[in-house]
Amino acid sequence: MTEVLAPWRPILSRALHRNRSLPNARYFQLATINRQGQPTNRTVVFRGFLDNSNQLQIITDSRSEKIHHIHHNSLSEICWYFPQNERAISH
Ligand SMILES: Cc1cc2nc3c(=O)[nH]c(=O)nc-3n(C[C@H](O)[C@H](O)[C@H](O)COP(=O)(O)O)c2cc1C
Repeated sequence: MTEVLAPWRPILSRALHRNRSLPNARYFQLATINRQGQPTNRTVVFRGFLDNSNQLQIITDSRSEKIHHIHHNSLSEICWYFPQNERAISH
């Protein structure tokens, strides 16, 4: 089934393309919620979109804390910094 792309998806794809020469721009911060209801945050590497969908792929150990958190509470938030922004490219 083809997923409708989210409004942020082409923006993110463009940012990834603009920053393709910067390996560090593939890192993002993933915050999950632990069993005590507290946010926990860590850096992970973006491994592409799953089947050209809105879903971000990462590689991790299934025993890691983040996996336990997501099974318990699927809410999460990411934060991603791209040094090469739109303005820097167009000038
Ligand atoms: C630059 C950088 C990239 C990382 N990339 C990953 C990654 O792709 N997957 C991952 O599981 N951990 C990655 N880590 C380690 C995580 O930040 C984290 O320490 C680890 O996954 C354990 O997190 P957790 O116990 O909260 O699940 C990376 C760390 C750094 C500094």
